Amino acid sequence: MFILGIESSCDETAIAIIDENKNIYANLLYSQIKEHKNFGGVVPEIASRKHIEKIDRIFFEAFKKAEISPNDIDIISVTQGPGLVGSLLIGLNFAKAIAYFLKKPLYPVHHIEGHILSVLFENSVEFPFISLVASGGHTSIFLVEKVGKYKLLGKTLDDAAGEAFDKVAKMLHLGYPGGPIVERLAKKGRNCINFPKAFIEKKNLNFSFSGLKTAVLNYIKKEHSFSTEDICCSFQNNIADTFIYKLNEATQMHNVKSIAFGGGVACNSFIKEKIREFAKNKGLNFYTASPILCSDNGAMIALAGYYKHLSAKCKFPFDFSLNATPRMQLC
Ligand code: KG4
Ligand code: ZN
Repeated sequence: MFILGIESSCDETAIAIIDENKNIYANLLYSQIKEHKNFGGVVPEIASRKHIEKIDRIFFEAFKKAEISPNDIDIISVTQGPGLVGSLLIGLNFAKAIAYFLKKPLYPVHHIEGHILSVLFENSVEFPFISLVASGGHTSIFLVEKVGKYKLLGKTLDDAAGEAFDKVAKMLHLGYPGGPIVERLAKKGRNCINFPKAFIEKKNLNFSFSGLKTAVLNYIKKEHSFSTEDICCSFQNNIADTFIYKLNEATQMHNVKSIAFGGGVACNSFIKEKIREFAKNKGLNFYTASPILCSDNGAMIALAGYYKHLSAKCKFPFDFSLNATPRMQLC
């Protein structure tokens, strides 16, 4: 069985082809980084226009890479939300057109469900587990009871962790996206600036990163005693400590044996290793995915659609009124 996954919720036009055994035949994307770089963040109008320009080329390239034809596809899965409405609509309408033409079922999926499930490609993870998803648009912690059954334990009340990386990089004039650049500079810095940590109160698993972002901004404006590398290192350590604090609370409140980490921020080796070490000390398993599967990709959307197909098979024709849902809730 072949599953086509289409993802266009933000600034990545991503198309993947997988099979029911989680083998990935193609996982291609067009990244719009260079289009948004000069603005220090994603410009929604530009993102929509680029998706339109690129989506069909990525689609055909994916089939070339997978060495199969569109007629071999059994089901189609697409991100319905959350995300930028213009961007979502391009992927959703493209998916509708393909599903209509091929006469195949179409599964609309939640973007974050894709991030949660991406750890299953390379690991066999026992349920229930705690999943931390940290990206440019989201930072949430879930109890994953089984595929399709998620309990939201906490989420960011303001900025997402990836967004904080991007904004700090912008303040320091480092470029976009900020995460990889801050990580690189942090390697040469010291964890010597005591930025405030927003742990909120005990047993509360929500996050808040806007105070940290403002503290970094104030530091840059007023003080010059430490280097850019030191700022990056201290900021990155702050985020890692906050994640570990919340994961510790979550694993005390819920009886789990494993922790999973997904989303673009999970590409950060330093944070990943700190969480791995924490899990080891607590006798917990730690799972994450390869960077290509942590950041936005079509394979995770294909997998989420495949699991939906297993639990409730849709038939062709699908619901043509299906619409993009920019503020879609997972649970
Ligand atoms: O999951 P993703 O590709 O897209 C969203 O769903 O938002 O995540 C993108 C975010 C960006 O904010 C980017 O700066 C961050 O992930 N990111 C990182 C790293 N690589 C990407 N953050 C910290 N360290 C990294 N190495
Ligand atoms: Zn994402």
